[in-house]
Amino acid sequence: MIRGVRGFAYDDGVLKAGRISLADVARACGTPTYVYAARGIREAHEEVVAAWAPLGAKIHYAVKACSNLRVCRFLRELGAGMDVVSGGELERSWLAGTPMSDISFAGVGKTDEEIAAALSGAHSPLLGSPQTLRGADPTGRGPVGLFNVESRSELERIAHVASRLGVRARCAVRVNPDVDAKAHAYTSTGRKENKFGIDVAGVPGVFDAFAGHPFLELIGLHVHIGSQVKVVEPYVEAVEALLDLLGRLETHGSHIESLSLGGGWAVDYGSGDAPPIRAYAEAVTPLLAPFVAKGLQVILEPGRSLVAASGVLLTRVQHLKESGERRFAICDAGMHTLIRPALYQARHFIWPVVCGASTPPRGESPIASEDLATYDVVGPICETSDVLGNECAMPRLARGDLLAVFMAGAYGMTMTSNYNDRGRPAEVIVTDEGAVLVTERQTLADLLATEENPRPLDLD
Ligand SMILES: Cc1ncc(COP(=O)(O)O)c(C=O)c1O
Repeated sequence: MIRGVRGFAYDDGVLKAGRISLADVARACGTPTYVYAARGIREAHEEVVAAWAPLGAKIHYAVKACSNLRVCRFLRELGAGMDVVSGGELERSWLAGTPMSDISFAGVGKTDEEIAAALSGAHSPLLGSPQTLRGADPTGRGPVGLFNVESRSELERIAHVASRLGVRARCAVRVNPDVDAKAHAYTSTGRKENKFGIDVAGVPGVFDAFAGHPFLELIGLHVHIGSQVKVVEPYVEAVEALLDLLGRLETHGSHIESLSLGGGWAVDYGSGDAPPIRAYAEAVTPLLAPFVAKGLQVILEPGRSLVAASGVLLTRVQHLKESGERRFAICDAGMHTLIRPALYQARHFIWPVVCGASTPPRGESPIASEDLATYDVVGPICETSDVLGNECAMPRLARGDLLAVFMAGAYGMTMTSNYNDRGRPAEVIVTDEGAVLVTERQTLADLLATEENPRPLDLD
């Protein structure tokens, strides 16, 4: 087993998901390709459910981590609701079979159209033709279970759209608790200088302003302090702040039905410093249990912890070259396929898919270093930041070798781009029944399709 990884293992010198060889997958659908192991996702989901069972918490999967329709559908079948941050994610969740009542809609920049789509039975016209949404029957859709609201301005828009549609919107206020999640600066979201949420002092005023509104039910509090948070103390701080606020709001006549604690639990990318999921739950359960006993519903929004470990990015070495002291393995995946190393200086373990006797290091006992060479694994993009991994020790590579970038299931495919006119990768899911190509590789024709019909704008 490779540290942190779920659902993949080397068997006789070949990386496999169950009995499926990833070398065969690459032969069948090319590279770069994301492969997800359903078994690993199920295992992670079970771990999350078990950790939070004492609080009877609802799990809303943060779709942004990996929005593939089949991945969402799989998690839905396991019982997850969905946490979405755009009209697109909302439609995906619906298409994945999630009732609207099990969807929470977060995000700082909701448009009127997205708010309307979340409240009414109709799909947003911005989301494309009905053909794009085939299989989606809006009958009986109803309003979204909860809006997680990030500003007073947003609440005003929700109130406006809800009044226009004559539908009641259930809302939780996202609180900015000003706690330091000690995560990467780009994934920390709970400091007062961050754009997220409403500061603690401002929340009671917002509840007062909208009390008794005919189309707005302010019934919850929400917090999300960051992602890949490796310490539990900031969660304790955030929960304490929320419970204190809850007490004050209830004293002033509000009734808080739900508390959403966001996601953010760290996974082990190889450094071994991510606490187990149950550590986060155990730290806050004693604080929350008395409130849960009185009827409070806890909602959680894990993304990374459900899918990161069960995804691998397959990429083929196109060229090898040396420059000064550096040895480069230039691959067909890069920052356009997996941006985490370029954006967050993230480390992903990388190893050849077919490695013979050179099985990857286990925990603290690496294979003999004389058998390894050190590579900067880079992509084809014209940016120096286009890196998949710097100074990666691996068996000596040859052109055409297939590499696996591990722990790539979260914030991998969803953060891809078409930079340098490269299509997005294919996606494959391996279940007990076999391997299924669930997303076709994007072609240049796909990219050009939106540019095919230039037309003068009628601006009168
Ligand atoms: C509001 C909200 N909830 C949940 C998540 C999921 O976080 P993670 O994938 O780290 O669990 C995010 C992601 O940053 C988020 O912004």
